[in-house]
Amino acid sequence: MTTPRKIIIDTDPGQDDAVAILLALASPEDMEVLGITAVAGNVPLPLTQKNARIICELAGKRDTKVFAGCDAPLKRKLVTAEHVHGKTGLDGPPMADPTMPLQSQHAVDFIIHTLRREPAKSVTLCPLGPLTNIATAFQRAPDIVERVQEIVLMGGAYFEVGNITPAAEFNIYVDPEAAEIVFKSDAPIVVMPLDMTHQALTTKPRIEAFRAMGTEAGRMVAAWTDFFERFDVAKYGSEGAPLHDPTVIAYLIRPDLFSGRYINVEIETKGEFTLGMTVADWWGVTDRAPNAMFIRTVDANGFFDLLAERIARL
Ligand code: RIB
Ligand code: CA
Repeated sequence: MTTPRKIIIDTDPGQDDAVAILLALASPEDMEVLGITAVAGNVPLPLTQKNARIICELAGKRDTKVFAGCDAPLKRKLVTAEHVHGKTGLDGPPMADPTMPLQSQHAVDFIIHTLRREPAKSVTLCPLGPLTNIATAFQRAPDIVERVQEIVLMGGAYFEVGNITPAAEFNIYVDPEAAEIVFKSDAPIVVMPLDMTHQALTTKPRIEAFRAMGTEAGRMVAAWTDFFERFDVAKYGSEGAPLHDPTVIAYLIRPDLFSGRYINVEIETKGEFTLGMTVADWWGVTDRAPNAMFIRTVDANGFFDLLAERIARL
């Protein structure tokens, strides 16, 4: 029996972030969620911090600590994704406002204080949105970088190229300078890129499995994914949408469902057409030092079976 991994989820909910948070909160034997830190991304910060609290209440975990973090990228104007997630960021089902409190501490201070307080190498960071909070914490307190157990993040793409521009994935594109700080930090990084998440599609049978649970959480996940998928289906003609962010949490529970390579990943911060691109040296054509485990495959059926089994608990 392994002890549950201590994690901080950094997030910009986002329907797929919501499913990731539900999976984490439904898996206490695998992880202890020390806190959820909201960042501006899919929608502005006032909505991402509110959505994070709505999701915790849906999971029946009102005592989860939710913090508001950075409301804009380090050096750029915020780019949001209402075209994918809707105006609220959680469009799909009707939702009541949360009643659980937002923590008064800033998310960046929570990240710094937690990493300094907890034993070294005992806390995993799980960024599901732009890396602004993480990079700000690393800049403000460089001593915490070596105390991080692992960073398992959703972001980037190589074979699949971009989803917000022809070259860049959204989370990296929104704050490429933050991503550069994180990828150059020497912290152990696992990247869950579009190359893999695009194999984890919310097909009709998979969505129906959530609806058939007969629980509020199951109904909400089905309604969120029904809404969330319309963008990808229209764009890619795929059968369903890629459920990006829950792959981060699933990796912590069942790493055997995934495979990848430890390679060099650089972030483009200057390119006129390639800003925010993750330049992944998958084929080892440079002598640049590897800095990230870049995940390339997922057992999609195993992933959705895990999701359904855990979310049915809520
Ligand atoms: O590109 C997909 C990522 O951008 C996901 O994390 C989604 O929630 C958005 O943040
Ligand atoms: Ca996200």
